[in-house]
Amino acid sequence: MTHIWVNNRLMNRNEATIDPEDRGYQFGDGVYEVVKVYDGNLFEMTAHIDRFYRSADELRIVIPYTKDVLHKMVYDLVEADQLETGHVYMQITRGVAERQHYFPENATAVFTAYTQVSERPIEQFENGISALLYEDIRWLRCDIKSLNLLGAVLAKQAAHEANCDEAILHRGNIVTEGSSSNVYGIKDGKVYTHPANNLILNGITRQVVLRCAEEEGIEVIEEAMTVEALLAMDEVFFTSTGAEVSPIVKINDTVIQNGKPGPWTRKLQQAFNAKVQQSITI
Ligand code: PDD
Repeated sequence: MTHIWVNNRLMNRNEATIDPEDRGYQFGDGVYEVVKVYDGNLFEMTAHIDRFYRSADELRIVIPYTKDVLHKMVYDLVEADQLETGHVYMQITRGVAERQHYFPENATAVFTAYTQVSERPIEQFENGISALLYEDIRWLRCDIKSLNLLGAVLAKQAAHEANCDEAILHRGNIVTEGSSSNVYGIKDGKVYTHPANNLILNGITRQVVLRCAEEEGIEVIEEAMTVEALLAMDEVFFTSTGAEVSPIVKINDTVIQNGKPGPWTRKLQQAFNAKVQQSITI
């Protein structure tokens, strides 16, 4: 909203400038996080920070703050913007240097973070969405939350043009995840989802939902599904920081169940919502 961190300075957004030779801008050479804010509270911030450092580390980008300092900076940003419900976007790039592909010797990482007001998608929780199947054309390190998002952008655009809200990606016949979410099927009360390896981003929402499933006594099988298996599921849903637990009621021309969110998805939605409420009250 009004403020932005640019390295160590919290400034007005309209004062911020980006150097055209920032490697984030030229190569997508950086990583990012999106953190949900409920009632002014950062949801699962420790997990997001851990993943931010892990992603940076995998690309050998050094974040010049301790995790505690970064946490405090983001907290101060939310306070400065008086954000109630919305999210924080933060990223770090390898820095500014004359353009050449290999790592520059003397670049210092560039950190930016700002907030955005965003409401919880209540209508989507209730009625679910339609999704489009799309070939997963991304690289083989989808576990890194990198700024390179063209595979996701093209998939989401195809979904958008087909009047769908999400693209479900598949590598050949294997379903991996959504263009910006994790995807699950439920059959006979068991939840199926792709294992957290290099082919998907291990969503923070995914980790919370798997915890919810365990607490509710719902079995989770972390095994890749084929496209045919997905289409034959009793229920399908997807998760992300913004979507939380959202039902998918149609995939291409296949209506899932009768086009209505099912009871197991509802149970996980309730359990997830309870975690959100807990985070607000503690
Ligand atoms: N996207 N998989 C991909 C490819 C994603 O981009 C995301 C999140 C997820 C879910 O992760 P999480 O539950 O931690 O939000 C899975 C973010 C929200 C985005 O790019 O806007």
